Parts: sequence; structure tokens; C-alpha cells
Amino acid sequence: MNIKNYLALFFFSSVCFAAKSQTIIPIETKDNAVVLQVDSSKNVSLIYLGHKLGNAAEYKEVSGMYRQAEDYTGVLNAAYTPAGSRNLVEPAIEVTHADGNNSLDLRYVSHNVKDLGNQISLLSVVLKDPVYNFAVTLYYKSYFNENVVEQWSSIKHSEKGNILLRKYASANLHLKGKGYWLNQYHGDWAKEMRPEESKLTHGIKTLDTKLGTRANIFQPSVFMVSIDQPATEDEGTVLLGSLEWSGNFRTDLEIDNQDNLRIISGINNYASTYTLKPNEDFVTPAFLYTLSTHGKGEASRNLQRWARNYKLLDGKGERLTLLNNWEATFFDFNESKLSALFKDTKNLGVDLFLLDDGWFANKYPRNSDHAGLGDWQENKQKLPNGISSLVAEAEQNGVKFGIWVEPEMVNPKSELYEKHPDWVVKQPKREEYYYRNQLVLDLTNPKVQDFVFGVVDGLFTKNPKLAYIKWDCNAVIYNAYSATLKNQSHFYIEYVRGLYKVLQRIREKYPKVPMMLCSGGGGRVDYGALQYFTEFWPSDNTDPMERIFIQWQYSYFYPAITSANHVTDWGKQPIKFRTDVAMMGKLGFDIVVSHLTGNDLKFCQEAIQTYNGIKAVIWHGDQYRLANPDESSVASMFYINQEKTSGVIFNYLVNNRYAENSKLPIRLKGLIADKQYRITEINLFPGTKSSLSSLKVFTGDFLMRVGFNPDVNASRTSVILKVEEAH
Ligand code: DGJ
Repeated sequence: MNIKNYLALFFFSSVCFAAKSQTIIPIETKDNAVVLQVDSSKNVSLIYLGHKLGNAAEYKEVSGMYRQAEDYTGVLNAAYTPAGSRNLVEPAIEVTHADGNNSLDLRYVSHNVKDLGNQISLLSVVLKDPVYNFAVTLYYKSYFNENVVEQWSSIKHSEKGNILLRKYASANLHLKGKGYWLNQYHGDWAKEMRPEESKLTHGIKTLDTKLGTRANIFQPSVFMVSIDQPATEDEGTVLLGSLEWSGNFRTDLEIDNQDNLRIISGINNYASTYTLKPNEDFVTPAFLYTLSTHGKGEASRNLQRWARNYKLLDGKGERLTLLNNWEATFFDFNESKLSALFKDTKNLGVDLFLLDDGWFANKYPRNSDHAGLGDWQENKQKLPNGISSLVAEAEQNGVKFGIWVEPEMVNPKSELYEKHPDWVVKQPKREEYYYRNQLVLDLTNPKVQDFVFGVVDGLFTKNPKLAYIKWDCNAVIYNAYSATLKNQSHFYIEYVRGLYKVLQRIREKYPKVPMMLCSGGGGRVDYGALQYFTEFWPSDNTDPMERIFIQWQYSYFYPAITSANHVTDWGKQPIKFRTDVAMMGKLGFDIVVSHLTGNDLKFCQEAIQTYNGIKAVIWHGDQYRLANPDESSVASMFYINQEKTSGVIFNYLVNNRYAENSKLPIRLKGLIADKQYRITEINLFPGTKSSLSSLKVFTGDFLMRVGFNPDVNASRTSVILKVEEAH
């Protein structure tokens, strides 16, 4: 073994080494390194975050190569910046001690590395205040093969009384570069995941939410930062990050006086000063990030692989295609209408029928979104024979049955509200204020947690064959207040903890039943929640032209298997275009099947068969973005299996100006250069012929250097191509 390999092995096990009076602690993955340094005064700083160095012994030389402005504090690149002592910038942690003192200093005590198997390791670094009995442990869980790091902290003290935690970040990163470009997202109902990219300037840019529930609706926690220059799909250094938390988050991006970028991310401390008792462990959620020096595409594939392998519920498993009745019936259905829909489900050829909102409540029937939410008994007029007869009838028709719930919420016009006004989030002395005519239940209250668990558990207990749950969450939190919580400043945090407790109980009892995470569209999409869910609803906006853009942006952070895409009547495009777009994730339908005329039904039936043949590649393959709809008239997305032998390309015309078409060939990515591939158009509308010949085969080299023209134009606005190795 040569010295280089020896050192690599040495560092992968993350054993530290001392250089002069410094200790270097590298956290290395396949391509990257996050490097901590402990100096002679026991300050722990982050000295390097980037592509890993060939000779790890040189990390200790990194800091010496910079001649930037004065630090003035000695903690500008702290691994976890404490407030109130030497610090002059945005802190990661801010505390009022039991004696009322506001200062904190954190010095190195020890560190430890655990090998968790599967090339995953967990570094913990213990820091302590030299004056107070106050300690923070920083955790870095690194996934070697996926180049992903999850970072969180645990905060504990044994002071003589409670302390106040005023800020408690999950992670505190520090980056050096010639400039930094932030790609952030904003949105609203039906407008999820709109990207905005800008160059960061000195000072602080904050991404946050204070909505409590449906927390992402205006801004999700996912973001990208390009370093040195704006990264493109395949070039440049870029960090993709996000907080694994389904409530208020806050990420501060600060360019300091040395021109370095500090990123501090965690639960939002807005209205949330936390009183920490002696010996209570406050554990923050994880901040998740990956770095690529080859652009946004590689970074996204890192995250997608990581999610499928480790985070998402049943990430490597199967999913069910379905017919949903929301847009087909809204609240207006009864048993005979549903009987017809079961037949439609079978006739269409999908796996499951999903009954949406409107099936419950009697005193205040759920016939609109004004009443009934919270009263989870079957509506006797619509469903006199109950859910169990529907589950049985679906089965007789050869399809599975799934159901919609929104168990965290209540309409004021409901028996639940009348019986338990103290279970509702509202200010006792102020008038109520509604979002979609409803209020949020107080999940900080264990009795409410039992109730919410009971809604789902009751459905499964009575209907063991229930095969799917759509869990909705349509309101934000106004007038944040709990009737039972002692400390109202804990409300936002305890709400999310309460939600996770319920979801944990559900998963202990029902480990694998597929559940869709929905929040009036994509108001709640994050990896804190996705460990309990198999998929999410990206947006109520299912206009396929819009969806090309929305799904494109989500795909940077979430794998296609998580994206529930339904064919609906939104948009002006023909059924083929709508179905093709929905096939780019987990396919479903929400249309009146009996209204499909001409060859439309035949097309849908054949498309589902086609989808069944390619879904494995879409769900479990690698995703390459070939042509960006924001940059050209054609959008093109490619999925290929791990063996690089089989893939599928989705191509769309996204500009309907005169004579727009795919003028240039589209260059493929991720193929093996000397393999031969055949490209065939699939999913053709009945009676139409492809304009492309599949007689020729091409080398991977040709397809990646020259490309292939899908012949997208005004008469062929949507083209799906199958790519197969030719022998
Ligand atoms: C909002 C969801 O996003 C829709 O899909 C639908 O389930 C409605 N809620 C039902 O109220």
C-alpha cells in the first residue's frame, strides 16, 4: 500500500491527526470533503468544503493560502458559531443561561466516528462552554457513495435552572469562492417551485417560513448555491441543501467581511425561544446537503439516489397507479357513482381507486369545504353501506381501494369543533381567522395526537384491505396558541414533533402502506415528512405545460418515484401530451373516464401498459435533464437504468410560436460511449405513425456528442423515446 492509499484509508475512517497544535478532522465522501480543524485554543472551525484533495495531509495547508481581510473574532468560520462572546456575525446558537447571562463560547472536548455500515459514517464532535455547564454535540452523517451529508446538533446543559435557547441551528457551513449565486424557490397555490437565481451580496439573505403548517407554500427550504460562477446542468460547483423539517425553517446565507459565505440553517427561531431544562437533550432536525463540481445534474442525482436508498419510505419499492375522483366528482358522489368509477378504474387498467374529499360527516355533511372536516364517520346519505362495502366492491372489480384524509384539520362547522373547542389552534381572546374555511388541530396536545392517529388507525382496523392513504393538509396556522401547552414559545416546534409522533405510530403499525403527502398541492414537501410517505403531490396545477416546469424543479431535490402526477382536464393539450407528462413520475388519472371519446380511452389504456413496461427505469433509474424548458423551445428529460442498457426520453414542445421545433439534435447523457443503442418512439396515439425510424443503431458516443432529434414540432408536441442497448 502506498502512502497516498494509506492516508485515504486513514481519513475515510475519519480518525483525526494532529499537525503542530492543530487537529484536522476530515469528513470525506467519494468526491467531497468537509474538513474541521481544532486549534490550540480548542476552537473548532470549518476550514474546507469542496472536492476532496488527493493528498489529505494537505488540508492543514488550506487556510494558510488565503490572505483575506481580518477576522477580528477568531470564530468567523466556526463549525457552530456561538452568540454573545467574540462573535460579530449571524450565530448558529444563542442562549440565555440560568443566571441570565447571554454569552456562549464553545470549545472542543472530543470527537468520535462510528461506522454505520453501507459506507455511512457518523462523526460526532463534542463542544463545551469553558465557563458554563453547557455542551453541544455536532453530528455529521456522511453517505460516502452518494456524496451526501446530514448535519444536526444536540444541545444539553446541567446549569442550576432552565436556560433559554434563542437560536439553535442544525448546521453552520462556511464556503470560500470568487462569488456565490443563490437559486431559491417561491410559490403559492398552483404556482409551486418557481426558481429565482441571483448573485449574493454582502449581508444576509434569509430563506424562511413562519406558516407552521403547509409551510412551503410561499417558500420551500430547498435551495442551491453555485460557487465561483453560476453552475449549469453539467458544469460548475454547486451545493444543494434543504432542512428535514415540516414546519418553520430558516436558512441565513451571509457573505461576511472576508467575502466568505456562511450558511446557517435550522428550525426558525421566530416566536420559538425554547426553555431547556437541565439534562434535557434538544436535538435539531438534520440539514441535508450535497456538493458537486460537475453541475446541478450530478448534484440532483446524488440526492435522488440518497433519498431512494436511505430516506424515502420504501424508496426501492413499487408504487400503485391509480384513478382519483377529486376533479371528476369533487364533493358530489354516491355509491352508484363510485360503482361506476370502480369499473372505470378496471377498464382503464390502473391498480387502485382513490376516493378523495367528501366521504364523511353527518351533522354537518362534507358537501363543500365549509363543513364537516374533523367528523370522520362515513356520510350516511352518500355512503349508506360505509367504506367497508366500497373496499369490498373495489376488490370485486379487481382493483384496490385508497382514501383521502386531512386528520390535522377541522371546520368550525363540525361536531369535533363543538365537542373539543380546546383541541383547536386559536387565540382564546381573538377572533378566529380561517384558511380554506378551516382551522388546525393542536397536535402539541397528546390527546389530539391520539385522535389523529385514531383517524388513520380506525380506517385500517375496520378495513384491513385499505391499500392507500392520501394525507392532505390545507391550512396554515394563524393565531398560534395551544390551550394545553405550558410554554407557548414551544408551540411551533411541538406541533411538528407531535405530527412526527403520530406518523411514527402509524408506520410502526402499518410499515409499508403507500401514503401520499399532500398539502393543498405542494405545501408540505420535505425529507422530514418523506421518511413516512412514499410519494408527494407536487401541485394542484396539473396543466401539463405547467407541470413540465414544476416537475423539472422538484426533480433537482426529489426522485421521480416520489412525484405523484395525475392526468386531468387542466390545460389545452391533447390526452397524449397530458399522459406523457404524468408518466414522468408516478402515474395517476383524475378524469371522467366515461367522457373519453374516440381513441382517447384506447390511448390511455395502451399508455398504462407502456408505462408498466418503463416504470422501473423512471422510478429507480438515474435522471438526466437534456433540454431545459426555461432555455429552449423543447424540454427533454432522460431516465436510464443503473446498467446503462435501457432508458426513456420524454420530449415536449414548450413554445407554440410559429414553426418552433427541435431544430438541433438533443445530446444524451449517461450512456456508455462504445455501446450500441437503438431508439424507438413509443406511446403513439392510436392510428398515428412515428416519423422516426428505429432501424438504425447509434453508439453511445454519437448520441452523447451529436445527439438524436426527436422531431418535436407543432404536429408532434410530445414524443417519448425508448433507448435500448442493441446487441
Ligand atoms: C387539496 C388537494 O391538493 C386536492 O388534490 C384535493 O385532495 C383537495 N385538497 C380536497 O379537498
